[in-house]
Amino acid sequence: MEKFRFLTAGESHGKCLTAIIEGLPANLDIDVDFINEELKRRQGGYGRGGRMQIESDTVEIMSGVRFGKTIGSPVTLVIKNRDFENWQNIMSANPKDITSDKAFTTYRPGHADYAGSVKYNQRDLRNILERSSARKTAIEVAVGAVAKLLLKQFGITASSKVLQIGNGKTEEEFHAEIDRAKAAGDTLGGKIEVTFENLPVGLGSYVHWDRTLDGRIAQAVMSVPAVKSVSIGNHHAYKMLGSEFHDEIFCEDGKITRKTNNAGGIEGGMSNGENIVVTAVMKPIPTLRKPLKSVDCITKEPTEAHFERSDTCAVEACAVVVESRIACVLANEILLKYGGDSIEELK
Ligand SMILES: Cc1cc2nc3c(=O)[nH]c(=O)nc-3n(C[C@H](O)[C@H](O)[C@H](O)COP(=O)(O)O)c2cc1C
Repeated sequence: MEKFRFLTAGESHGKCLTAIIEGLPANLDIDVDFINEELKRRQGGYGRGGRMQIESDTVEIMSGVRFGKTIGSPVTLVIKNRDFENWQNIMSANPKDITSDKAFTTYRPGHADYAGSVKYNQRDLRNILERSSARKTAIEVAVGAVAKLLLKQFGITASSKVLQIGNGKTEEEFHAEIDRAKAAGDTLGGKIEVTFENLPVGLGSYVHWDRTLDGRIAQAVMSVPAVKSVSIGNHHAYKMLGSEFHDEIFCEDGKITRKTNNAGGIEGGMSNGENIVVTAVMKPIPTLRKPLKSVDCITKEPTEAHFERSDTCAVEACAVVVESRIACVLANEILLKYGGDSIEELK
């Protein structure tokens, strides 16, 4: 059933991140500058750590595009990890380079370390950290940028904003909250809102649970690292009356209109033509400079969680990743509904 499919590969400190996208129509304009702008947005935001100063992500297109347009074949994207230079020995694929003293063995609370080491039977927790790291969201944002280029052909646009960080509700307060957390060796999460405009009516469906647009968006957003809740439309629904919440329907010049959008653009698992509005909560960054209590995975002795260069707060970046995920869902739905092997046919 899926039309817009992609797989990504790559470790946080490995050579590169890669994605193969399949299902794009031919003759779609691929603006590399736009993809790189999106990568830059993901790297920005107040409260980011040192890694973001080392990496200045740019995408390389390895297949599927000629002279700025897709040709119908799979599109391969690569982002080099500039930091790899400093990690060549530690991340080597060659068994001769093995250095057991470089293993890190203390679980980091809030990360994949403990469950991942049990699941994949690993004693060097780097084998878990490297892929579970949010570094992989860089290549996901590149894929999302390609999805946005497809959506742009139909006038569909995305935007996002930070609603809250800690107790702060204005930009000045966000910065003050982040400064305070950073000075204390602590971290923060926050709440974001993402909006997509100019959607056609009828993306998604109510006929099966796994075809609902809200269900698909929720899964795509919930799986962003550190996102712990997703809601669509007015997130105060639980305390509103039906008469206040539901968006009454009017007709102006033969066109269905609403005066409110508490449904967030989705009714019955389908887009209803209003803006799609998604809010998500990101938990505080789990790597703390003032380390949390933990245990060593080999000795099981109490110790402090491993610390590696880390963000204090990445809520603005998270919003970009959430936009990208939703863009992929919507691109898939557009292709499912309208089909076509070229952009001309799709239109
Ligand atoms: C854009 C972005 C940047 C992140 N940066 C960091 C970071 O620097 N340090 C960290 O410990 N976690 C960071 N995280 C969060 C972790 O990747 C995430 O909490 C962890 O992988 C566990 O997954 P879970 O929170 O979904 O359970 C970041 C998440 C996102 C979306």
